[in-house]
Amino acid sequence: PAAKSFKVAKVYEQVGERVKVSGWIHRLRSNKKVVFVVLRDGTGFLQCVLTGDLALAQQTVDLTLESTVTLYGTITKLPEGKNAAGGVELVVDYYQVLGLAPSGDDAFTNKIAEDSDPSLLLDQRHLALRGEAISGVMKVRAALLRAFRRFFEEESLTEVTPPCMVQTQVEGGSTLFKLDYYGEEAYLTQSSQLYLETCLPALGDVYCVQESFRAEKSHTRRHLSEYTHVESELAFITFDDLLQHLERLISQSVKYVLEDPVAGPIIKQLNPDFVAPTGPFMRLEYKDAITWLNEHGIKNEDGKDFKFGDDIAEAAERKMTDTIGVPILLIKFPVEIKSFYMKRCADDPRVTESVDVLMPTVGEITGGSMRITQIDELMAGFKREGIDPKAYYWFIDQRKYGTCEHGGYGLGTERILAWLCNRFTVRDCSLYPRFSGRCKP
Ligand code: 4AD
Ligand code: MG
Repeated sequence: PAAKSFKVAKVYEQVGERVKVSGWIHRLRSNKKVVFVVLRDGTGFLQCVLTGDLALAQQTVDLTLESTVTLYGTITKLPEGKNAAGGVELVVDYYQVLGLAPSGDDAFTNKIAEDSDPSLLLDQRHLALRGEAISGVMKVRAALLRAFRRFFEEESLTEVTPPCMVQTQVEGGSTLFKLDYYGEEAYLTQSSQLYLETCLPALGDVYCVQESFRAEKSHTRRHLSEYTHVESELAFITFDDLLQHLERLISQSVKYVLEDPVAGPIIKQLNPDFVAPTGPFMRLEYKDAITWLNEHGIKNEDGKDFKFGDDIAEAAERKMTDTIGVPILLIKFPVEIKSFYMKRCADDPRVTESVDVLMPTVGEITGGSMRITQIDELMAGFKREGIDPKAYYWFIDQRKYGTCEHGGYGLGTERILAWLCNRFTVRDCSLYPRFSGRCKP
């Protein structure tokens, strides 16, 4: 009889019905009499069983892992305690092979053996993606972006899509990717912040989900050359409003992801000990962090005690965050180690109204600040950083035509994912990671 076709995620409810399901052979186990298949179609996994003539027939086809098949049969409920997705099994009565994957030396499992050299696995990323952990992280990623958008909607922010090809820098000249733009010098954007700032008088509070690019020379577990940057900019706020907004953003988005029917169970599996953070987060001033680091014998990049003005580099920052063990809002960084646009604190002009959100296991996931509102102060910032302000005329105009107190932040999607999904490196959290030495597949 004709069978209705279903995606795996929808087929679990079809107990007793004859159905048609297409997908890839994720797992395969057989003896003379029975063949067990776990079918995967991206929406879920389905345990399937072939017996009798069908089992014999499969030996003539010699089904392989990752072959594409269409299976027909009846969905049967499994007794409690049987470990199969949806608690059901497809008893197959007919099947078609749509694409037979190779066996022997060229077999799928040879290409993506889990103990392969990581760089070989990255060469085979298009195949490795099919694995449960990596595809799981990508499902969580989708849920996370959905959660951010839901949060921004609730907070009345408007989504915009700034350009990726630009002629201004935001976070320092040393990590700019340069490109030849019809004979003019241009760059791949490091951050959409400056564009978001110009949107405030037109659209009110705004956000974007945009690729940012950094020519990071060092190989670290948390730096990519291209990453998905979630940035937002908020008008008429105080520094404390900004900090509270960040607490809400992180707590709410994580809550939405954990409640998501697809992403929630994946996080449970990948990161069983994960505890959702709830605000308010610990607030730690940069100067107190310096004291903390020295009290705990953690050294700066020169192997010496930290002094006010030192950058807290990745290793020290992570050691501190892991030891403290809770989310931290690290605030009030010195002017000299931060970008040209950051507003100084009224009560201590050596430091800025700036914030990094630090999470155990990854460290910095977010960087933000209040912005300079006055043109002369901004010009001094350009001068300090050695930036020619000419290319920034449009950004400067934002201070000329109705300036306002405002602030914003950027959040690295892959970093928050590494924290959520318990991945050692952000490379696992990007579909096709880009870092120095890798631009394929
Ligand atoms: O701290 P960053 O450089 O801040 C900015 O770009 C600001 N202009 C954002 C803003 O205020 N609108 O970058 C923000 C975040 C970091 O906290 C980190 O999570 C992520 O972007 N990030 C990276 N993620 C992966 N690979 C890299 N190379 C990254 N560089 C920054
Ligand atoms: Mg930063």
